[in-house]
Amino acid sequence: MSLGPLRLPNRLVMAPMTRNRATAEGVPTPLMEAYYAERASAGLIIAEASTPNAQGQTYPDIAAIHRPEHVEGWRRVNDAVLAAGGRPMFLQLQHGGRVGHPETSGLVPLAPSPVALPEEIHTPGGRRPSVVPRAMSPADIRTTVADFAQAARNAVAAGFAGVEVHSANGHLLHQFLSAGTNRRTDAYGGPVGRRIRFTVEVTEAVAEAIGPERTGLRISPGHTVNGIAETPDETRALYPALLTALRDHRLAYLHLAFADPDTPDFRRLRDLWPGTVVANPLLPAILPADGGSAAGRRLLAQGADLIALGRAFLANPDLVTRLRTGAQLNKVKDRYFMYVGGATGYTDYPALAVG
Ligand SMILES: Cc1cc2nc3c(=O)[nH]c(=O)nc-3n(C[C@H](O)[C@H](O)[C@H](O)COP(=O)(O)O)c2cc1C
Repeated sequence: MSLGPLRLPNRLVMAPMTRNRATAEGVPTPLMEAYYAERASAGLIIAEASTPNAQGQTYPDIAAIHRPEHVEGWRRVNDAVLAAGGRPMFLQLQHGGRVGHPETSGLVPLAPSPVALPEEIHTPGGRRPSVVPRAMSPADIRTTVADFAQAARNAVAAGFAGVEVHSANGHLLHQFLSAGTNRRTDAYGGPVGRRIRFTVEVTEAVAEAIGPERTGLRISPGHTVNGIAETPDETRALYPALLTALRDHRLAYLHLAFADPDTPDFRRLRDLWPGTVVANPLLPAILPADGGSAAGRRLLAQGADLIALGRAFLANPDLVTRLRTGAQLNKVKDRYFMYVGGATGYTDYPALAVG
């Protein structure tokens, strides 16, 4: 099937996964070239959350895409994926908002409202209590929207096929969507129609910068993470309003993270969206032995176009072959190595021996 400028050889997408293997300045490393190249057989790779400006940095050693060194580093990663027979990737653009810390970024985090993340946060010096973020001024909002658009241009310059705007998992855009984190009384807060405005503006600015066919959007309706606490009623009002505002923009795709194939909520959002839907199934904390393949098939039967899997790709560089042949999957090693460490738990998962 085709997706924006790409022809995909299969419907399996590698979900974006932050792995903290960039330099402290956010520059992609040779280790990342190897990691993504090993996974080149994915129909599509959505590369890990990368920050569009210094303010948006969440954790230590995450990738960024706002300086020339970031563009050069990501270009080398894309080249490695192409050399391994893959296609240009999409890059996820993530601003952490209140999920950030001055000890990591050197800056006080910005957010829709001064509501701190209700948990500790990882910094270069270890876990720290979260700080109260500064509420974004109208000028901060304008600058941030422009930074997303420039980051998208940078991503295309680095060889990406497009970008995914991250409006999921409790990061900045999601903080604007949810009433618990957005207490604003201006044009960006209050009723649902105003809370969706920031995500709509960022998405539109990105689409204008690089083309809607190169712009994806990720949302995680009802997923409680990073202190987000959406009630079912809030979720059912918020996301249809957001999709209605963006449905005529001809975006490359909508990415529904943590989609449950067995609820009508997935079907409702699927039916609202006229274009491609990437669905990332809701899987248990202990990954099933099939890596999510059965849940993915149920989502395809419910109308998803592409299936994104995260941890199964993390542990199986040749996931496509393994699912095709019914081979056993590698298990995820120690969770510790998901976000810390060099090659261990990163580029040392074996592929099947080619017989
Ligand atoms: C190590 C790790 C890092 C992740 N980083 C990101 C990220 O950068 N952006 C994002 O939207 N989701 C991120 N996620 C969530 C995944 O994209 C995915 O939604 C989640 O792992 C559920 O899919 P799975 O059950 O197939 O693993 C991450 C998950 C893991 C395990």
